[in-house]
Formats: sequence, structure tokens, C-alpha cells
Amino acid sequence: MAVAVYPGSFDPVTLGHYDIIERSAKIMDRVIIGVLNNNSKTPLFSAEERVNMLKSVTAGLPNVEIQSFEGLLVDFVKKNHADVIIRGLRAITDFEYELQMSQTNRVIAPGVDTLFLTTNLKYSYLSSSIVKEIAMYQGDISMFLHPEIARKVEEKMAARKKSGE
Ligand code: PNS
Repeated sequence: MAVAVYPGSFDPVTLGHYDIIERSAKIMDRVIIGVLNNNSKTPLFSAEERVNMLKSVTAGLPNVEIQSFEGLLVDFVKKNHADVIIRGLRAITDFEYELQMSQTNRVIAPGVDTLFLTTNLKYSYLSSSIVKEIAMYQGDISMFLHPEIARKVEEKMAARKKSGE
């Protein structure tokens, strides 16, 4: 049984992430999405909210499950007896960081390999940060996210604005 971990911040999950999840679920027997719960980053959504949003968009993919993790990715991979880490590559600009991460992971945990999937061209420009920036200025984010996720981002931005954050 081939088990993969697809890790990330997913703040929030975009259609680009979903494309990678859907394709991974076709290749692997089981895909565990690892949502990084890292206190040093200040995400828009809590880890619990990000997990729930991922659960909602992957409800139709029976071999995909969602967990949050803290600490080292390789420890999360080992704990779940996964075979590989999956990462999406959008453009050459991603490559240096991704190469460094995958090589570091393999040095600190020999045997933990990374599989790269090239992002669908349709989403090659897309990132959670860009989506949040557009939403911050009330731009239309409906073409980047599942409708329920777009709604949550808009609600969160409106609440932040109201509270003066
Ligand atoms: O979606 P992101 O923010 O690009 O994902 C980055 C992530 C979560 C894969 C990376 O930051 C990570 O693995 N963090 C866990 C801590 C860790 O293992 N660091 C060493 C990796 S070289």
C-alpha cells in the first residue's frame, strides 16, 4: 500500500492545492494531508479551521485524510508510516526552496523521499498569499478557491476589518 503525505500551510486551501490532492489520490493508495500547526507563523486561519476546510473540499475523495502536525515533517511522515512526501511545483522560483527542503529531509531522515507534481498550468501563478492579498482589498477571489472556502476567507477578512486588525 503506497501512502503519501502532502504537507503545507493551506492558509487557505486553493484550487491549485486541490488539483495536486486529486492527482495524488489517483496515484497513491492513501494520501494524508499534513496541515502545519506552527506558532511562529501567524496564519489567517487556525490549524483547526484549515483542517476543517480541507475536510470539506476533499469529502469526495475517500482515500484522502487530513491531520495537523507540529514539529518536523519527517517525524510526521514516519509516525504515519508514509512512503513519500508530495509537493507541488509551480515554477522555477519554487525549485530552489523545494530542492533544499527535500534534500534536508532526506539527510535527516534517510529513506524519506519527495515526489514532485507539476502544478496544472491553470494554477501555476496561484498561491494562498496572493489570494489573501486580493481578499484584503475586497477583490474577487471566486476563481481561485472552492466557493465555501472563498466565503470563509471573505468572512474572516470582514471580521478582521471590523475588529481593526
Ligand atoms: O505550504 P508551505 O508553507 O510551503 O509548506 C511548508 C512546509 C509545511 C512543507 C514546511 O514548512 C515544513 O515541512 N515544515 C515543518 C518543519 C520542518 O520539518 N522543517 C524542515 C524542512 S526542511
